[in-house]
Amino acid sequence: MEGQQLNLEGPSPNQSNIPSEFVWPDNEKPCLEPPKLKIPPIDMKGFLSGDPETVSAICAEVNEACRKHGFFLVVNHGVDKKLIDQAHKLIDTFFCMELPEKQKLQRKLGEHCGYANSFIGRFSSKLPWKETLSFHYSPDNKTVEDYFLNSMGEEFRHFGSLFQEYCEVMSNLSLEIMELLGMSLGVGRECFRDFFEKNESVMRLNYYPPCQKPELALGTGPHCDPTSLTVLHQDQVEGLQVFVDGRWCSVAPKEDAFVVNIGDTFMALSNGIFKSCLHRAVVNNKIVRKSLAFFLCPNKDKVVTPPKDLITMENPKKYPDFTWPSLLEFTQLHYRSDPETLDAFA
Ligand code: SIN
Ligand code: FE2
Repeated sequence: MEGQQLNLEGPSPNQSNIPSEFVWPDNEKPCLEPPKLKIPPIDMKGFLSGDPETVSAICAEVNEACRKHGFFLVVNHGVDKKLIDQAHKLIDTFFCMELPEKQKLQRKLGEHCGYANSFIGRFSSKLPWKETLSFHYSPDNKTVEDYFLNSMGEEFRHFGSLFQEYCEVMSNLSLEIMELLGMSLGVGRECFRDFFEKNESVMRLNYYPPCQKPELALGTGPHCDPTSLTVLHQDQVEGLQVFVDGRWCSVAPKEDAFVVNIGDTFMALSNGIFKSCLHRAVVNNKIVRKSLAFFLCPNKDKVVTPPKDLITMENPKKYPDFTWPSLLEFTQLHYRSDPETLDAFA
């Protein structure tokens, strides 16, 4: 595996004996029937209403969830169901294409974007049972539309514009969630706006084919996202698990909800008060599972440092200042001996 991309055709739904690269060590093998986590979803409309009592009740719930496990669900988020449905349909369109077609977007060594079926997360030694397609988003220009048009041609115009719109909507929702996090931390609605107004984010489409040995494999190994926030939509197939109270719990799919994960960069911005969420995804032997992940990253020039009010005698400064590109560079250099196969986002 050293120093080169793994030469595999990716996970295959009909293989009865899965290759050893996909077999996880005993202490990391998944539990396929974990307890289901029951947490009340956060009502974004209630938060945006501005009604003081509603807002303070919602902020208290978010504060508790983020201190405890670093994740919550949002509903009444205002995102059009049709847009989400179309995005899921296009995931099928892309991943059902023949491999050489998908490989037109093959992720290049050392890059974060493109099509991948054999990249390993920062803290893992095993391959995830999934295919991914990742691309950059920035609010200033039509990065997504251009990416697909330039690399896949006219046929992908619709694909590009749909995901351009999806990312714009996710970016706006993320900014609202940042207001919610600012209020929940007691530092004010606008506190984090500067870091993210010009975000340089990444969108990832996850496609988990069925696996004939789901008890041996993982769709995504245990990890915390290095980014600030992840806003995730999963289809109706169970698979996402979060680590709560010392055990893995399943986050049941909820069609009208987005899962919001706190990532390492926001944990640093909150001076460690909010926790980066430890999570993973399992696979099953029957059906494909899909998810859409929008990784909100700070503007690349911004120094990630917590607001002064969050640095106190009881909670002194926990992390050195850094910028998002320097964190990514550090990840490439230090987490794995074979940085070319590294999935820096998992
Ligand atoms: C991830 O965390 O990378 C993916 C989670 C999911 O597919 O639910
Ligand atoms: Fe993740």
